[in-house]
Amino acid sequence: CGIVGYAGRTDLASGPKALDVVLEGLRRLEYRGYDSAGVAVVADGEITSRKKAGKLANLLGEIDENPLPASNTGIGHTRWATHGGPTNENAHPHLADGGKLAVIHNGIIENFSTLKQGLVARGHVFLSQTDTEVAAALLGEVYHGEAAEDLTLALRLTSAKLEGAFTLLAVHADQPGVVVASRRNSPLVVGLGDGENFLGSDVSGFIDFTRRAVELGQDQVVTITPDDYTVTDFAGNPAQGREFTVDWDAAAAEKGGFDSFMAKEIHDQPQAVADTLLGRVDSNGRLALDELRIDADELKAIDKIVVLACGTSAYAAHVAKYAIEHWCRVPVEVELSHEFRYRDPIVSPSTLVVTISQSGETMDTLMALRYAKEQGARTLAICNTNGSSIPRESDAVLYTHAGPEIAVASTKAFLAQITATYLLGLYLAQLRGNLFRGEIADTLADMAAIPAKIQSILDREDEVKELARAMQDTTSVLFLGRHVGYPVAMEGALKLKELAYIHAEGFAAGELKHGPIALIDEGKSVFVVVPSPRGRYSMHSKVVSNIQEVRARGAKTLVIAEEGDEAVQDFAEWVFRVPETKTLLMPLLTVVPLQIFACELAGAKGLNVDQPRNLAKSVTVE
Ligand code: G6P
Repeated sequence: CGIVGYAGRTDLASGPKALDVVLEGLRRLEYRGYDSAGVAVVADGEITSRKKAGKLANLLGEIDENPLPASNTGIGHTRWATHGGPTNENAHPHLADGGKLAVIHNGIIENFSTLKQGLVARGHVFLSQTDTEVAAALLGEVYHGEAAEDLTLALRLTSAKLEGAFTLLAVHADQPGVVVASRRNSPLVVGLGDGENFLGSDVSGFIDFTRRAVELGQDQVVTITPDDYTVTDFAGNPAQGREFTVDWDAAAAEKGGFDSFMAKEIHDQPQAVADTLLGRVDSNGRLALDELRIDADELKAIDKIVVLACGTSAYAAHVAKYAIEHWCRVPVEVELSHEFRYRDPIVSPSTLVVTISQSGETMDTLMALRYAKEQGARTLAICNTNGSSIPRESDAVLYTHAGPEIAVASTKAFLAQITATYLLGLYLAQLRGNLFRGEIADTLADMAAIPAKIQSILDREDEVKELARAMQDTTSVLFLGRHVGYPVAMEGALKLKELAYIHAEGFAAGELKHGPIALIDEGKSVFVVVPSPRGRYSMHSKVVSNIQEVRARGAKTLVIAEEGDEAVQDFAEWVFRVPETKTLLMPLLTVVPLQIFACELAGAKGLNVDQPRNLAKSVTVE
């Protein structure tokens, strides 16, 4: 979500401008979420708020019809739904304290349902399904209770009671000129002006007004007034933010300083995986997927799983098959949605049809879902867009929390999808008793370590970029992989086709000798995704043999291998190392250098990385 806050002096030459600042900030932050938007301003001892489902334009229309009073203090939010669909009621701000307190939030509050039960027992009535309204109600209670009407103290005490990820901003009717904010695992930056100060999810929230900014640390609370800002930690100890000057132009700011949304989204991946895991594992290391809405007995009785998707999402489905069959011992079929729909497939009420879609609007997948429902199957959507058609029409949904993906070619949604299918697989194994509890907890612990491992790959991206730039005149690249590395090879090839318009193909490494090896000639570039030498499958030595086979025929071998895998070294022109993890989790790491490669190569060719020719982000025709 995108968040903006503003506190300005009443005697500014520009006059009261909270609304202008907040709306301009939201316009720049809309890429962070665009399913609903809202603002609140403090004026004349009251909070006035407007909010509307849909794009920011809907909110602007609403404000035109019902204007807001002139004000120097305001907050604004542009939402990407996590808890509760994109409706007017669920849009932020959420009010509490009899309408005198307005709160906006970015993130996921993991313990919101426990907190909500307590608040309901104490007589609070909730108007939305959001976790944010729970935080607002709690803040209102603490404000009048322990905090004795000190808004900063109230937010500090409230934040300490929250678990998960959040950036919270609050204004109170009785505190004009004050905006308070706190952050944990979610971004927040302060903008410093002259007689006015700003808050934003990132600097693009205020880049039109100031270039002086302060980055806040983890678990910090900040209070801005027109002339000052103060930072403390959640215990109230004074803290210092890091001041810096924004030297990006306004356009680059929205991309976090990256050249393209795709590059930014590749870098968002540690967060996308972490957020998709958030709130789904209880303190005993057990999976809690209450959101699934399908009865546990029905899930236990499932005798076949069919996974349907298109494009990149279909490769996430391929990866899912390896994991779910291995963990759950249930047959998993993977099929492209458009092929499934028109071939008279066998589905029954004991079939679970899982659709995977970033947008939730892909027509091919929607039609396949409807067909599966007609056949009596139970349906579950893995989707990144809350309230979109596919999850709406499914029996159950498991949202990926990658945040909005703007670049047409999918990156962070793909990693979040794989993460979600793994959660589903482990959950089914837990329900059906296929795995020991320790095994599930162990795998979840390894998954929790993935974000930092992705980050370590991103920290070495220059190794990949250098290769990509050197290869910008290449006309054909092959990708080989085995087991879960096979869908990764296909995704690596798809990225290169989509972005760089280069002929690229992904093969199962074992299939090479049955035909594709004829394509190998002197200098042909071949990426090889090598499985871990530690795995229990004997795939590693087979793939190393495959590398030798193509190399013997003149290929230039570009190898993605695990740290410490020395066996590949002698046969590779170039090696990129990924950290160790369980074999089944490797796609979450091995695909990252391939994404960076395609993105950088397309950029080097001067192509539009975010909007490749002939493609659309969401294909709503069959
Ligand atoms: C389009 C996009 C692809 C995407 C596919 C599936 O073709 O260009 O990047 O993977 O649709 O989209 P979905 O939203 O269903 O995941």
